Amino acid sequence: MRAVTVTPGVPNSLRLTEEWPEPAPEEGAILVEALAVGICGTDHEIIAGSFGEAPPGQERLVLGHESLGRVIEDPTGTLQPGDLVAGVVRHPDPVPCLNCAVDEWDMCRNGQYTEHGIKALPGFARDRWRIQPKFAVGLDPALARVGMLLEPTSVVAKAWEHIERIGQRAEWKPQSVLVTGAGPVGLLAALLASQRGLSVHVLDRATSGPKPELVAALGATYHAVPVSQLDFEPDIVIEATGAPAVVLDAMCKAAPTGIVCLTGVSSGGRTIDFDAGALNRALVLENNVVFGSVNANRRHWDLAAEALARADQSWLNSLITRRVPVGGYAEAYTPGPDDIKVVLDLTA
Ligand code: BGC
Repeated sequence: MRAVTVTPGVPNSLRLTEEWPEPAPEEGAILVEALAVGICGTDHEIIAGSFGEAPPGQERLVLGHESLGRVIEDPTGTLQPGDLVAGVVRHPDPVPCLNCAVDEWDMCRNGQYTEHGIKALPGFARDRWRIQPKFAVGLDPALARVGMLLEPTSVVAKAWEHIERIGQRAEWKPQSVLVTGAGPVGLLAALLASQRGLSVHVLDRATSGPKPELVAALGATYHAVPVSQLDFEPDIVIEATGAPAVVLDAMCKAAPTGIVCLTGVSSGGRTIDFDAGALNRALVLENNVVFGSVNANRRHWDLAAEALARADQSWLNSLITRRVPVGGYAEAYTPGPDDIKVVLDLTA
């Protein structure tokens, strides 16, 4: 069968392999026919050779962690043939650490977790894959075109859960949220903010293309100015650019008792002049919280599946700016200027 693979650590080793072996039974009882995978910055980093790890004893890694498939067979009866399904990305570490021991693998403390398509587990960009029931998330049939958005939605569902838990440290009635970055994570974070009835603001560099309209369609306000020029102080900030200057400005902008959630993975290696003492002073004197958030556990995937099922399907569909048949994989994995989410179509 076909699989999109790389040799981790070797730049530009991306290939479409036609003779990839069928998924091994040990991978899970549920056999799935792949429909599509979403592509994100992590895939680009893996292709560039700066991230990613093949399964033990293997040279190549199958890409794809944003999955959507249709169940072929499930002898456990958890799902039915024909059901839409996505696979949870991360698996707990084998030790296990305190958090992995209770299935909070998104909070793994020893770094020995594995991730489909990223770290030591084969990804979902292959014609068929297998998954264990515990890691198989069934999707509403209405999500057949957009279900590969479940993975990035699980990431923001976790971010929102943690924001709300932190908020409970004191009396808390948030009204406004600022999302920096109108990529898939930022837009999905804004969707979940609008589902919570908050006043939503999204900031991005783009002044044309689909982003301003997508934000307006959520009933949110779009800003194409630097964070420092905003004329309000948000109760919550979700930072989704990873751009150092934006990250620091976002930390400084939050209202007193504000919560700033960082979700953007910066490449690192760039330094900027910054008054760290002034930031520390503001955080302390205003009881602000800044925290990082990555990945998601099963609870968050289930919350994300509910959030997607409640969302406007045509809005979700508009996040997908390119759908590329698997034969055009090289083009799919080449970032384009107007991309929001690019999807590799495995049915073609
Ligand atoms: C994925 C996460 C993953 C992270 C680090 C992100 O692209 O969405 O699930 O934990 O990369 O590997």
